[in-house]
Amino acid sequence: MTPPKDTEHYYAEQPKSEAKFGLVQTRLRGRPFEFVTASSVFSTKRVDLGTRVLIEAMKLPDLGCVLDVGCGYGAVGIAAAAFNRKLRVVLTDINRRAVLLARQNAERNRVSNVEVKHGTLYEPVEDLCFNCVLSNPPVSAGMQTVEALIRGAPAVMASKATFQMVIRSKIGKKTLPQVFTEAFGNFEVLAIESGYRVLMAQKQ
Ligand SMILES: C[S@@+](CC[C@H](N)C(=O)[O-])C[C@H]1O[C@@H](n2cnc3c(N)ncnc32)[C@H](O)[C@@H]1O
Repeated sequence: MTPPKDTEHYYAEQPKSEAKFGLVQTRLRGRPFEFVTASSVFSTKRVDLGTRVLIEAMKLPDLGCVLDVGCGYGAVGIAAAAFNRKLRVVLTDINRRAVLLARQNAERNRVSNVEVKHGTLYEPVEDLCFNCVLSNPPVSAGMQTVEALIRGAPAVMASKATFQMVIRSKIGKKTLPQVFTEAFGNFEVLAIESGYRVLMAQKQ
């Protein structure tokens, strides 16, 4: 059944509602950014608090490739690309409207070291190898999707690459450490802030 237009999921592949655009102007790690947003895309009015917590805490490599999986309108990946212009940053999302916005926002924020791909989880990047994978995962899509996002990451990661994911502290407090440990053999909490945790693991 198609959901009513203004309650369309932010993770719809092809949003059907007419796009209502907005503009978010903000500072991230002390730098100004602006993002065009639209209805049926995650967090249209402001950069989400969890997103902000991830951006503040994320540890970026000096060189190599970074993936923002489930990029929405692009805040995490575009910030990573702006903070280290030597990186190649790939952004992916299932939502075609989000993909178009992320491309537009990369240009708007004058970052050229990004590429935005459409598709589900790691399918658009299965031939690539990343030194860091970042995600604010789609919890509303269900914990099965979140788990698949964690378990699928090592296949696209280089040895010693890190996986960094933000999530509300109360979600999966017992189960996620186990999923991380099964996928990577290790687990740590990189940051705890404003009701969110940034979880991290390293590929051995
Ligand atoms: C919580 S939002 C985070 C968006 C963005 N990273 C941010 O922090 O503003 C999760 C994103 O994952 C996307 N998503 C949901 N299911 C997905 C899937 N199976 N594959 C790829 N992206 C997915 C949604 O469309 C949404 O943009």
